[in-house]
Amino acid sequence: MAGDEVDSWWSEGALYQIYPRSYQDTNADGVGDLPGIIQRLDHLQWLGIRGVWLSPVTVSPNADFGYDVADFCAVEPSLGNMTDLEELVAEATSRGMKVLLDLVPNHTSIEHPWFEESRSSRDNPKRDWYVWADPKPDGSAPNNWVSSFGGSAWTLDEVTGQYYLQNFLPEQADLNWWSDEVRAEFDRILRFWFDKGVAGFRIDVAHMVVKDKELRDNPPATSDDPFLDQIRGQLPVYNSCRPEVHDVHRRFRAIADSYDPPRVLIGETFLPNIEDVMPFYGTGDELNLAFNIPFLHTPFEASALRDMIERTEALIPDGCALVWTGSNHDVPRFPTRWADGDPDRARCALVMLMTLRGSLFLFEGDEIGMVDTPLVPEQMADPISIRYYPVYGRDGARTPMQWTGAPGAGFTEPGVEPWLPFGDLTVNVEDQRRDPESFLSLCRDLIGVRDALPDLRNGAYASLDAPEGVLAYQRGERTVVALNLGAEPARLGGVTGTIRVATRRSRDEERVDGTLALGPGEGAVVLLDVLPG
Ligand code: NOJ
Repeated sequence: MAGDEVDSWWSEGALYQIYPRSYQDTNADGVGDLPGIIQRLDHLQWLGIRGVWLSPVTVSPNADFGYDVADFCAVEPSLGNMTDLEELVAEATSRGMKVLLDLVPNHTSIEHPWFEESRSSRDNPKRDWYVWADPKPDGSAPNNWVSSFGGSAWTLDEVTGQYYLQNFLPEQADLNWWSDEVRAEFDRILRFWFDKGVAGFRIDVAHMVVKDKELRDNPPATSDDPFLDQIRGQLPVYNSCRPEVHDVHRRFRAIADSYDPPRVLIGETFLPNIEDVMPFYGTGDELNLAFNIPFLHTPFEASALRDMIERTEALIPDGCALVWTGSNHDVPRFPTRWADGDPDRARCALVMLMTLRGSLFLFEGDEIGMVDTPLVPEQMADPISIRYYPVYGRDGARTPMQWTGAPGAGFTEPGVEPWLPFGDLTVNVEDQRRDPESFLSLCRDLIGVRDALPDLRNGAYASLDAPEGVLAYQRGERTVVALNLGAEPARLGGVTGTIRVATRRSRDEERVDGTLALGPGEGAVVLLDVLPG
């Protein structure tokens, strides 16, 4: 999408995900809170961030740390209160930043009053707000659906003798989006927050919200199917990506577009293939942005990345905008996952994220190159991290923000035990702010260069032929990005200009006369000379 003033903040800007429990604790309970986020807005403004997405701040018993919502229109008390949230929106706005909240329409906590009513009897008026079904004659679950977190997607409720659907934890009951009342209730929830000046939502598991009305069995997965489907043993044909899910997104979008300025919807489209992500843009009438999860899972090597970027560019519907991200609260951080802790490769990944066409989300801590914190199950809080240890975990990416190297990390008071252990505090904001060659300085300078160069904001993307191991592309008229992800030095021809930002900062402003030489793990953004005539 071209640089329209109104929506450039989300279609071109550097955006930032905050995991509130881990950002800044102001009441010494070891858990981050909304007043803490307000305190840190200056950091985000200094960095050049245009909008923040807060992982859920609504009432939650925290079986899944906010993603099990017990009241969609009230603030979780351990994080603050509604006044704090209103102040946060006002303070962000005064610094030129937008605030996006997390909307979880697929399910609620089983402690949500809706579910408590629904489960109370088969003829309760809210019975059909959730997906209830009879056992099979042998008493087993109504169908073969497997939860995204493993095991059956059904839990038997002894009180009424039916199963309820839970595509995540048993504490997270799936709502029934075939119910007009559920739809109307969510219309109200969207408006409640939009009326408070919230700029939009990140929509949790946007692709799964509607389920097959007949609850048909999923077919088995084969060895040709995506890895996750193989693990689950089935293809989620009937509990994911149903054709009718698009009605819901069109409905949300119509509400978002009815506001001035229009509100923005960003979907968590956690799907293995980019081809399956794109339909969630609709014809520009569904999600404004759909997270490119397949990119995040692409191996960090030049040919695979190039292929994924080209496919993404080719598939994005006309008039729609792309969004890139390297980390979030569900996957290992990119300096760990892509770069395996190698700081040079992490720098290359940051340059890539900052120079692809579209907007990008940093996850808190990405700006200082935080790696995952190695944890053992006794230190973990997330049931999924504990269940799948050591194969998969989420808590390693969720440990508190490292503001300083001092006890408490600037996150909480010294001596207070944080809800998850601290990582390596030698990696921290305070030290990196003083160091012009730090990851943080690179991050801020890259955002500055994006803002300064129209090519990087909205110039077309074109892959460039490059030696093996090098990912190279041109943006717009004059900007070339080259990243040597290989193990050998490499030379990229056809480049004459000046390095605007290099991962090795001593090369900033270096002249390039025809050939850009890059050592292993080196990358550069080069502004090409303007040719006479
Ligand atoms: C995706 C969220 O990002 C994740 O943290 C959560 O566990 C599931 N959806 C279920 O809400």
